[in-house]
Amino acid sequence: MRLACWREDEKECMNQIALVTGATGAIGKAIARQLAEHNTFEVVLACRDEEKAGQVVAEIRRATGNPNVRYELVDVSRYSSVEALARRWRGPLHSLINNAAASPRQRQETPEGIEVQFATNVLGYFWLIQLFSGRLQASAPARVINVASYWAGDLDLSDLEFKRRRYNNGTAYRQSKQADRMLTVACAARLKSCGVTVNACHPGDVNSRLSNDLGFGGQATPDEGADTAAWLAADPVGQRETGKYFEQRQAVRCRFAEDTAAVEALYEACLAYA
Ligand SMILES: NC(=O)c1ccc[n+]([C@@H]2O[C@H](COP(=O)([O-])OP(=O)(O)OC[C@H]3O[C@@H](n4cnc5c(N)ncnc54)[C@H](OP(=O)(O)O)[C@@H]3O)[C@@H](O)[C@H]2O)c1
Repeated sequence: MRLACWREDEKECMNQIALVTGATGAIGKAIARQLAEHNTFEVVLACRDEEKAGQVVAEIRRATGNPNVRYELVDVSRYSSVEALARRWRGPLHSLINNAAASPRQRQETPEGIEVQFATNVLGYFWLIQLFSGRLQASAPARVINVASYWAGDLDLSDLEFKRRRYNNGTAYRQSKQADRMLTVACAARLKSCGVTVNACHPGDVNSRLSNDLGFGGQATPDEGADTAAWLAADPVGQRETGKYFEQRQAVRCRFAEDTAAVEALYEACLAYA
């Protein structure tokens, strides 16, 4: 019997299993650590670099005293790798936090032949939701948090991989974060009746490799940047709300979510990559 249950009095949940992608990065590591601070969470770091992953697991265990922190290796930009992770996963999954992202300055393609930002920042999120959706439903109530950005726009449904447009990493990044917000709405609608919520958030402007690659620094600390995503993963609000976009723990109107035709077209386009 699954032991998970909500303790409304403490607004905490028991034996919740969370999967955090990009947990070797600035914001992902802070999200993973904040969740591990709840001793009721088992936190799985989804990382592509085994050495970094081991170091971060040790660091979070030391900092929180929570022994239930471990890693799984996955390259989220590759369907085959995400599929392998989903296939070897055992037991429930209550919170999927899609956070991993990259923004190479030059256009690059993955070994599967997909432009890297679209593959990592968009399809990576989408594949994880798709391939874990059965497990999330079986673990319901469950939730997905897509770390997006307020810096979003310029999505071109006819050129998602910058094959026609001149590649610029800022434009490709903004497109990918718009797509994350749109896919949040599409996936939320499909999973609503199954007890699985899907919400998006802007984290905060944090100095990181990603922000540096985009030509920015960032004034927020990683902990500040992680706050809204970790809150959506742990607080009952993240189970009540779905299909929403949050900034600083507040639901904010998302104009991208309102173009239903584009949301559905993007969802269909992503399906074609599986
Ligand atoms: N920083 C900001 O100011 C800011 C603002 C708005 C939104 N965000 C969003 O916040 C999230 C985290 O960004 P961050 O600033 O923390 O970036 P970061 O420090 O550069 O971390 C990125 C993480 O993603 C991982 N990653 C990249 N490609 C991957 C792949 N193919 N497979 C598996 N993992 C991969 C990296 O792994 P490695 O360590 O192996 O490279 C790293 O753990 C992103 O979704 C970003 O769009 C950030």
